[in-house]
This record gives sequence, structure tokens and C-alpha cells, in this order.
Amino acid sequence: MNAQLPTEVVPVELEDVQGILRFGYKHHKEACFLLLRVKDAGAARTWLAQAPVTSAATADPPPQTALQVAFTSEGLRALDIADDIIDGFSAEFNEGMCRDADRARRLGDVGQNAPGQWQWGAGERVPHVLVLLYAVPGRLGEWRQAIEAQCDAGFEQMECLSVSDLRDDEPFGFVDGISQPEIDWARRRPARDQDQLAYTNLSCLGEFLLGYPNEYGLYTDRPLLEPHRDSGGMLPRAENITDKADLGRNGSYLVMRQLRQDVQGFWQFLHQQAGGDPALRQRRAEAMVGRTLRGVPLVGGTSATSAGDAAPPATDLNAFNYESDPQGIRCPLGAHIRRANPRNADLPPGGPGIVSRLKRMLGFDAGALARDRVASTRFHRLLRRGRDYGAQLSMDQALSDTPTGSESGLYFICLNANIARQFEFVQSAWVMGIKFDGLENEGDPLLGNRQAGVDGTPSDVFSMPRPDGPDERLCGLPQFVTVRGGAYFFLPGIRALRYLATSR
Ligand code: HEM
Repeated sequence: MNAQLPTEVVPVELEDVQGILRFGYKHHKEACFLLLRVKDAGAARTWLAQAPVTSAATADPPPQTALQVAFTSEGLRALDIADDIIDGFSAEFNEGMCRDADRARRLGDVGQNAPGQWQWGAGERVPHVLVLLYAVPGRLGEWRQAIEAQCDAGFEQMECLSVSDLRDDEPFGFVDGISQPEIDWARRRPARDQDQLAYTNLSCLGEFLLGYPNEYGLYTDRPLLEPHRDSGGMLPRAENITDKADLGRNGSYLVMRQLRQDVQGFWQFLHQQAGGDPALRQRRAEAMVGRTLRGVPLVGGTSATSAGDAAPPATDLNAFNYESDPQGIRCPLGAHIRRANPRNADLPPGGPGIVSRLKRMLGFDAGALARDRVASTRFHRLLRRGRDYGAQLSMDQALSDTPTGSESGLYFICLNANIARQFEFVQSAWVMGIKFDGLENEGDPLLGNRQAGVDGTPSDVFSMPRPDGPDERLCGLPQFVTVRGGAYFFLPGIRALRYLATSR
């Protein structure tokens, strides 16, 4: 794609962006997700043409309810969108999450995670449209009924995924939703490499919104249409190719996966490994995540690092990287948050001077090279918008032999402009990858599927390096998280949504 930036930076039209790209809807503690299939394309389009979608513009007072809409490629086809328009979307989106066995293997969707066992997302159970409903406490029931009634003529409801009321902690008991990339809404981050060498939380808009420059300084790939396809001028023109209508602009790709968490299995395994010692059990769980139960990072940034400490102000919880802990003594290299965001930069760490920089750039610094095993994070960020489901267990319930009789887990949702480079890379190379940052035969301690590598060695180990002596190793980790469904969606800008609903 063209690298030219316009001389004048055009502000983002927030009214055209779906709100979930800007807000986590934290006050909207109630939510549910409707998975729909088109039964009457005409009626479905009629609803989509005026669906009450909430934008990213700030409203005062904030809305009591919010609705967001996204499509799978099957959904676009079911709505009779022309093939050449659909072909303009990315290959991953068009192929879907699980149709290709190689992709499923790379994502770790084998064994118990295999798509054949999913509740939704595979075979005949691929949704066409995802409707995300959010509401302030007490308002969801009525809101959902109203929307279901509106959708009834055009869609058949495949699933209504019920979501737990928003809490701070996820089912294993850890505070979640702390670390997020900061999106450069003001478009002030320069798209030049020399300004991007150090780790920073700020991400170019084009990492999350289609139609803007990304961390490479390039406009994102997205469907661009010949002007005759948009003779009514419903769509914005592409910023870098002004004679094309930009169907992607202000949209994003949304990845959703239903992840069942075996909360009893997780805590019982750790309890047994810790010989029944509650403090050791908790320390090991925290090593697996890379944060304490309260969310304090095990590395840097704050002085409060032990399990019982109160969490410091939220801003501090994200102000760290792993430069001071290259061996993973404080936060193991394979901890979930270190894998999912290694917080490294384009160059291995070193002094600020030109000589140090040159040595590292040219590969003359052997020490630095050993710390350059993991790809630079800025090309692989995810904006997470997941919500939990099922009951939250107390520690006594988690440790008890009595089955809970119900399932709990995470509806993992993330937004990204490039599914292959962002979600798929993080999931396959960093989270499920069993060779990561010098580790061998270890997957993510929370999410790993424990499948054997090519030499037949199972990936069921978690190493915790020690300052003196060999690593402490937890062996025989069971699988704690199982995939139950998933799909790739396009979350359009609001004008693009209206265009899709009305174009022929
Ligand atoms: C049931 C499954 C999962 C659980 C229980 C879980 C749990 C957590 C927890 C407790 C945190 C720390 C809180 C925070 O930093 O916000 C976290 C962070 C994170 N997780 Fe997960 N997670 C799950 C699945 C995933 C998946 C599938 C991915 C990506 C493929 C992922 C990517 C991330 C990222 C990027 C972070 C932030 C890391 C950072 O910036 O420091 N997680 N997760």
C-alpha cells in the first residue's frame, strides 16, 4: 500500500467509528452477544440500514445502552454483497478462523480445541452477523428483547451468548483488562522508524482502524471500490488513493473466541504442586500470569509486588518493560503477559549513544543479540474487549471435588487491522508457540494445549528461572483452557455498514 501521508492530518470522524474501538463500555456492566444467521437477506438489510449502532463520539450523558455490529465473510455473502467487494477483504477474514486445517493447527485448535467439537463457529454453525449488546445495570433484558424483535424478520438466532456482569477479575481470579495499547487518535505518532525504536504503549491508528497509516507508515490493506460502486457517495474516499471509495475506513477486524476455563483444574493442580501451601500456590499462579492476583506486574514499575499488596493506581500497572529482567527471574519468560506482549522494541536494549545503537543495529553486540529473540512488539498489539461468562468460584469451591455443574470462561474479543500480523501472530508464535524466547517445549501456562512438538516431547512444562541454580519447573501441566467456538468478523465503520445494507 502507498506510504504517502497526506500533508494535512485529517481528524478521525468518531461518529463513523463503532464505539467499541474507543470504549471498553465499563459502565455497561451487562452484556450479551447475539450470533445471527441471515434468513431473509432483504429484511436483514432493512434492519442493518437503520440499526441503532453506537458510535465512538463522546455523548453527554453517556448512552444507557450500546449496540455494535460485525460480519463474517459468510455473512457478507448471505447478504448478497458482490464477490469482488468481498475479495477486497483480507485472506484470513475470507478464509475464516477454522476452515483451513493448517490455520487451525497454527492457532492451537487441535486435540480438545479442534473445531469439530466447537459449540459454534465451524461447519454449519458459522454465524453471519455478530450483534454486541451492552447496557448499564438493569437495562439489558428490555434492550435485548427490543433488538431481538427488530432482528426477527431478517435473522435466525443461532446463539445468544450470555455474559457475566462485568467484574474486575476473570474466572481464574486475576484482575484483567489492565494493559491496552493506547491508540493514537490524534494521529501524532510519526510513521518513521527512527522515532519508533523504543517500546511505547502508543500505537499508530492504522494498527486498529482500517484506512489509516500503521506502524510501518503504510496505509492498511482494506477493500477499496471503484467510484461507480458508490455513485451515491455514501463512503469516504481513500485518503491515499482519492479516486477510490474506502469501504474499510473507520472499521476494523474483530476476532472472537469462546475459551472455557477449567477453574477447578487450574487451582487443584497448583494446590497439589505447592504441597497444599496457599502462599506458594498463589505465587506460582501469579508467575504463570506475570501479575499478582490484584494485577500488580511482577516486574518493575511499582514497589508493590507481593501478593497481598494493594494495587497501586492504574496508570502504574502498565508502566514497565522487561529490560531489567532479561533472564525472567522476577517474571518468567513464558508467563502469559510476557508472551502476549513482550514489551520489546525494534532494537535489543542498550545505551542511548550512537555507538551503542550502531553496534546493536549491526549485530556486533553479542549480549544484545541474545536478548533479541522475540519480534518487536509494536507490530503485534491487540485491543482486547473480552467479557467473561459463567459463575465466579470462591477458592474453596475451586479446590473442592464437587463439580460446579456449570461452565465458565472468557469470550475473548480483540480488535486489530491485520488479523495475520496481529491476532494470529500473537496466538500462534507467542502464546501457543512451544519455542519462545529460548524456551523449548513450553506453551503458554494458562492457554497451552500441551500438544507434543515434532520430536514427540509434550509441551506441558512451565519454567521459573532462579538467580542461583537451575530453573524451577512445573511439569505435567494439564490443559486449563479449551476453545469452544470462534470466528473472524469485519466491524465496519458506520457509513460502510449503511453502504453494505443498501448496495446492490
Ligand atoms: C481464558 C483465556 C485467557 C485468560 C484467563 C487471560 C488472562 C489474562 C490476564 C489475567 C491478563 C493480565 C491483565 C492485563 O494485563 O490486562 C492478560 C493479559 C493479556 N492477555 Fe490474556 N488471557 C486469556 C487469553 C488470551 C488470548 C487468547 C490472548 C491473545 C491471543 C491474550 C492476550 C493478552 C494480552 C495481549 C495481554 C496484555 C499483556 C500486556 O500488555 O502486558 N490473552 N490475560
